[in-house]
Amino acid sequence: MRLADKTVFVTGAGSGIGRATAERCAEEGATVLVTDIDPDGGTETVDRIEASGGEAHFHELDVTDAEAFDAAIEATVDEYGLDVVVNNAGIGHPPALTEDTEPSTFEYVLDVNVKGVWNGCQAALPHLKEQESGNIVNVGSLASVYGLPYQAAYSLSKGAVLNFTRAVAAEAGRNGVRCNAVLPAFADTPLGRQFFETRSDPEKAKEEMLKRYPLGRLAQPEEVADAILFLASDEASFITGEGLTVDGGFSTS
Ligand code: NAI
Repeated sequence: MRLADKTVFVTGAGSGIGRATAERCAEEGATVLVTDIDPDGGTETVDRIEASGGEAHFHELDVTDAEAFDAAIEATVDEYGLDVVVNNAGIGHPPALTEDTEPSTFEYVLDVNVKGVWNGCQAALPHLKEQESGNIVNVGSLASVYGLPYQAAYSLSKGAVLNFTRAVAAEAGRNGVRCNAVLPAFADTPLGRQFFETRSDPEKAKEEMLKRYPLGRLAQPEEVADAILFLASDEASFITGEGLTVDGGFSTS
């Protein structure tokens, strides 16, 4: 078991990549704190983990709320200890040119995708640094390194996640704490599907997109979860400040 006796705190774990990460970590022996703004999704994740014999607990959390994030981490440390934080919660936005993007959309995307990750690191770092162990995995995107047209606010937010990850890694390494990011391309989740569903011809948009993937398909959330699990585990003990692309070869072609 790669995460035996570890406690893993996952945001946005009520769906998609977060749920798959929570499930994979539980399979590897971790006690998992399943957190999400959506109690139904979060509770379902816990039920699925328990049905498979794992240990998980739900905590309702909106990652944009810094005080609530601090309290959730504090409670986790007190009750279970804390080894890994996966800052996964994130949102997309309807496709729009930069100049046509609504200010409210821009602000909310940055609030969840950037401030949410910031809040998670601010809350967790004092505990991890004090115990001189543990690590953080932030979920970026291929949009951390590619500028996606009509996804400018999303690209801005995910670019920030990658460089923030590097800064945290540079700061916290001497305290025995690692910080990495995964950079997935399209994954088959509600958020990934939403990208195509908002196109005028979703099937055609998907077909065109798949042509750009050497592996010829979208990722399954479990495939992204496996990369997160690797970075979170001791197998990645000398890896920090890294942005690991999980993109079916998209960025090589
Ligand atoms: P998803 O939509 O399936 O799941 C996202 C989860 O985050 C949901 O359970 C939702 O309730 C939760 N959430 C949303 N706002 C929240 C908030 N303020 N506080 C707490 N929880 C909140 O999305 P998916 O695809 O699993 O995405 C997970 C991460 O992966 C996101 O950061 C996303 O940007 C990133 N990503 C996804 C890709 C994809 O194609 N699916 C590609 C690249 C990156």
